[in-house]
Amino acid sequence: MVVAIDGPAGAGKSTVARAVAGALSFTYLDSGAMYRCVALASIERHAEPALVAAEVQISLGERVLLDGSDVTEAIRTAEVSEAASKVAADPAVRVAMVAEQRRLMSSGDWVAEGRDIGTVVMPNAEVKVYLTASPQERARRRAEELGVSAQTVLAEQTLRDQRDITRADSPLRAAEGAVQLDTTGLTLDQVVARVVALIPGQHS
Ligand code: DC
Repeated sequence: MVVAIDGPAGAGKSTVARAVAGALSFTYLDSGAMYRCVALASIERHAEPALVAAEVQISLGERVLLDGSDVTEAIRTAEVSEAASKVAADPAVRVAMVAEQRRLMSSGDWVAEGRDIGTVVMPNAEVKVYLTASPQERARRRAEELGVSAQTVLAEQTLRDQRDITRADSPLRAAEGAVQLDTTGLTLDQVVARVVALIPGQHS
């Protein structure tokens, strides 16, 4: 079974997806980490993102490994966030990442989060959720995570949202059949309970 959780940065996708995966004993897939790895490798190797995407070995788990090196923290910098948003607009990069995500999810039970899981990667996912929150709330959460000011995050977030929403290839939008869930003012437990309740055979 696949539970697809899409939505903009800061809507709470990572925390929620991780918690839902834990509650159900499903495997968590952070697709954004893959785009971040391509961005980091492209910066470090001065190489075209499309070439990097075709060659890199990305391993997701407790730690994120890029060609065997631990890049768990290195992919979370502001520089890589910005670069990831750009490489994610490259169709050749997306083809490679989507193929890898489908390969991973071809068997087993998954909670996958990203921007296009329900629309492109797994349009037949049994459960699709589109998580949102107000821009201010999303910036506040991200700022807390990164230890920087909400104002800086809000400015960068607006730019990245714009790029993710307006890009030609797989723009960020709610998938057909997705349940939209606004997490503004909800606690993590409340959000997790609502998502878990959508899964056939689960009671919150
Ligand atoms: O979720 P995140 O911030 O780690 O994602 C990093 C970038 O990758 C972000 O700009 C959106 C993009 N992305 C994407 O285009 N498709 C996905 N499935 C996941 C992330």
